[in-house]
Amino acid sequence: MYSNLKISDKPQSYYNKILEKDFWNKFEKKLNIENICFDKKLMFTKKVVNENTQKLQNYGYFHYKNPNFFSPINLMSQTLKRINDMNLPPVFGFVYDEFWYIQYQIEDLLNGILGKNYKQLPDFWAWFITKGKSGWAPHRDKGSKSLFSNNKPKSVTVWIPLSKATPENSCMYILPANKDKYYNKEKQVNSSNDFPGKIEDFKALPADPGDLLIWTQEVYHWGSSSDLDHTECPRVSIAFEFQRADIPPFRDFLLEPNVLPTFEERLVLISMQILQYINMYKFERDLGFWAYNYIERYKKLNKL
Ligand SMILES: [Fe+2]
Repeated sequence: MYSNLKISDKPQSYYNKILEKDFWNKFEKKLNIENICFDKKLMFTKKVVNENTQKLQNYGYFHYKNPNFFSPINLMSQTLKRINDMNLPPVFGFVYDEFWYIQYQIEDLLNGILGKNYKQLPDFWAWFITKGKSGWAPHRDKGSKSLFSNNKPKSVTVWIPLSKATPENSCMYILPANKDKYYNKEKQVNSSNDFPGKIEDFKALPADPGDLLIWTQEVYHWGSSSDLDHTECPRVSIAFEFQRADIPPFRDFLLEPNVLPTFEERLVLISMQILQYINMYKFERDLGFWAYNYIERYKKLNKL
């Protein structure tokens, strides 16, 4: 299963410690685990919700600057750096409450976009992009199945930079829906080399820490490569996915966005993300085994 992956030189005890809540509590004492109440939300006026919902329908994305999250953005960013320094994927940041709480704060905005009782998909990720590295290559997230015929989204991706994101250190690039010749249309079978728009229509989306970008899951986008010699910090960001409640689920289970998962549930969800992207990132083989075994053990213990 993981025969093409690098063999780890870490002892088994290394992987045992990341199972322990106590390890993570000590790793960053200022962040919380199973401690935070979801009690503060950002206020969005009806006008703002309507305008941005319309932008999603017309252009496939919007960039909301400085929503003022009740979150320690810089500490979250530094924590992902320290996790990356341990040679673990930054997605382990999701052991901390703060990485779940941040999405809850835009509930009113997502209610407007996806309707009441929208759900969180069990898909999320964290990026720590160092000099010379790139974000993900050009792609569409779920494609046209994530849109109604009038281009209203059934699901969206929420992307939050925790550092500055610029063309120098890597930022998102997007082809607006109204410039995309295949948007919400059937794609050519071999369209991977067929760019769906004109080069001059692609937009760079430089962003500040704590900004909010939301796009439909059909919009064509990528994370650019960072310069080898830039003087910015590494680009750090996190992403979540959400869907309407009144359509069939896109995954075999969905999460309630206003419920904080337990520590064990977080490790299962983190393990799922690691397995999902293991070949893309060429993680160490032992990390793959750890993730696989953690999910199996959880299923056995909980009779799933
Ligand atoms: Fe994407």
